[in-house]
Amino acid sequence: MSDTLAYTAEQLQTIHDLVARYPHPRSALLPVLHLTQDAFGYLSMEAQQLVADTLGLRLMVVREVVTFYTMFRETPAGKYRLEVCTNAGCTLNGAVELVRHMCETLGIKVGETTPDGLFTVTEVECAGACGGAPVVQINNVYHEKMTPEKMDALIAEMREEAA
Ligand code: FES
Repeated sequence: MSDTLAYTAEQLQTIHDLVARYPHPRSALLPVLHLTQDAFGYLSMEAQQLVADTLGLRLMVVREVVTFYTMFRETPAGKYRLEVCTNAGCTLNGAVELVRHMCETLGIKVGETTPDGLFTVTEVECAGACGGAPVVQINNVYHEKMTPEKMDALIAEMREEAA
């Protein structure tokens, strides 16, 4: 049982509504994990235990899903999550070079967060927008046909916004 994390009454109602859509609470696991990640910033072990307790699942079942999907984070991320699709379609259109450029520009490696806490760069699986390859999701907003120049401009905008 989680000692310090708890859902709000509103979040519990949302979870209740999600569970009601399915024949088994386990089927609501993905949306409940998204809700939990949005609520607490990332899925710590404590947050995963909270999900398990709330849905009546074993922690192992929750962990299997969390560790399978790249969209779930087990560690805190920066204010801006730069998620680059590196599946085949995006890689053929420059995603690898784009990631390299972003990491050089920000002075971090894939999976790391800049020391100022602003940016985290990750590689993700197909974002489902292959026609716009290469695709970068920034805090769940898609940016398509990205280039190093476009990325530099976006990074500058985000820095300005955060200042
Ligand atoms: S391969 Fe990148 S969006 Fe599909």
